[in-house]
Amino acid sequence: MSIFRGALLDTPCGESGGASFAVPTTLRVESDGALLVRNGVIAARGPAAALLAAHPGEEVIDCRPGLLLPGFIDTHVHYPQVRVIGGLGRPLLEWLDQCALPEEARLADPTYALGVATDFLAGLARAGTTSALVFGSHFAGAMTEFFSAAAGSGLRITAGLVVSDRALRPDLLTTPDRALAEGAELARASHGVGRLRYAVTPRFAFSCSGELLASCAELASSVPGAFVTSHVNENEAEIAGVAAAFPSCADYVGVYADHGLLGARTVLAHDVHPLPRELAAQADAGSAVAHCPTSNAALGSGLFPFLAHEAAGVRIALGSDVGGGTGFSLAKEGLQAYFAQRLTPAERRRELTAADLLRLATAAGADALGLAARTGDFEVGREFDAVWWRPQEGSTFEVGLRHAESAEDALAKLFALGTPADIAAVWVAGDRLAL
Ligand code: GUN
Ligand code: ZN
Repeated sequence: MSIFRGALLDTPCGESGGASFAVPTTLRVESDGALLVRNGVIAARGPAAALLAAHPGEEVIDCRPGLLLPGFIDTHVHYPQVRVIGGLGRPLLEWLDQCALPEEARLADPTYALGVATDFLAGLARAGTTSALVFGSHFAGAMTEFFSAAAGSGLRITAGLVVSDRALRPDLLTTPDRALAEGAELARASHGVGRLRYAVTPRFAFSCSGELLASCAELASSVPGAFVTSHVNENEAEIAGVAAAFPSCADYVGVYADHGLLGARTVLAHDVHPLPRELAAQADAGSAVAHCPTSNAALGSGLFPFLAHEAAGVRIALGSDVGGGTGFSLAKEGLQAYFAQRLTPAERRRELTAADLLRLATAAGADALGLAARTGDFEVGREFDAVWWRPQEGSTFEVGLRHAESAEDALAKLFALGTPADIAAVWVAGDRLAL
């Protein structure tokens, strides 16, 4: 057993509801707190003095100064794109053609893919991300390399082969039969192995035929507990292309629903331009949206309608969308989510507090990924997934924390100023990751 001592902040949401923002956020604070961790699971929590007195002789891991937070949960991030972060100045479809897809094609070489996987997993861990729903590669060999690197990383990873059969460069295309066969084999080898799970991943309806989407639904129903992830309503040219390709579907969300891909284990990224009926369909299905704020800004996709999702009862979590997004830090994503709401006209604006940002980056992600019984907060019974934020001596973040007026103020300073360089240690289920 070990006792972790520090300034504990979390947003407890029970085992569901973390991503349903109609329920107000509670920030729980233990300014000199402690967690007793046994076999990777939080066995007790409370003020440090009381916990230390009740468990004399236990090893104490002192996470002071700074803040001890639950590990971040990134619900949308692309493994093949780590090396192309920062391709600015283009809208989605041009950015895909000119920046992302040429790099994704290089992952046909498994040796290259392994190098990318290593860079990617290091980027997640160093940013304090302990769980992620990862958009994979179009190549099965690249996914085999990825899953084996992910198993060694200690992170909680849900990922799958990305599939498309039209509208992209030919070397990235597959067929419905091949997608099913390769996906089934990758799922057999990875799903439920250690901290890995499988996600059926049609790239977006723009690049998929109805037959391919149907094969994805067949795969998802043959792998119990598998996730489904894709993109939706990100960019107006993309949305027009989907409407033209699927004239018999009511709308973009309807394409996924009509092909059996919209359910409680579905996570759709972006949803910047949803229709009210699409929000209602997502709420009814219990699917979640990965809000990707830096990507939405960098690609000029638009301002995410947070309040409309909240009012419709759609679950919302946070995604970095590397490499459309500008890095792995969910602290930066949280800040950009806040900025985007500040820039939204008052009648549609959702004022986000620092506690909301922490919830988006932690408990909401756990809920969206079906991991809320295991992770997302520091409740007794959860696995100890945690990040020790210790600002660099003399940094503006350190000055800010020293002068913070309250825990909420300290948390706001973390979102404003904290970077991966301010992370001293990361644990998953009590195991300290090598950073
Ligand atoms: N839509 C389809 N593929 C992608 C991608 O790689 N990034 C983003 N942001 N949107 C997409
Ligand atoms: Zn994406």
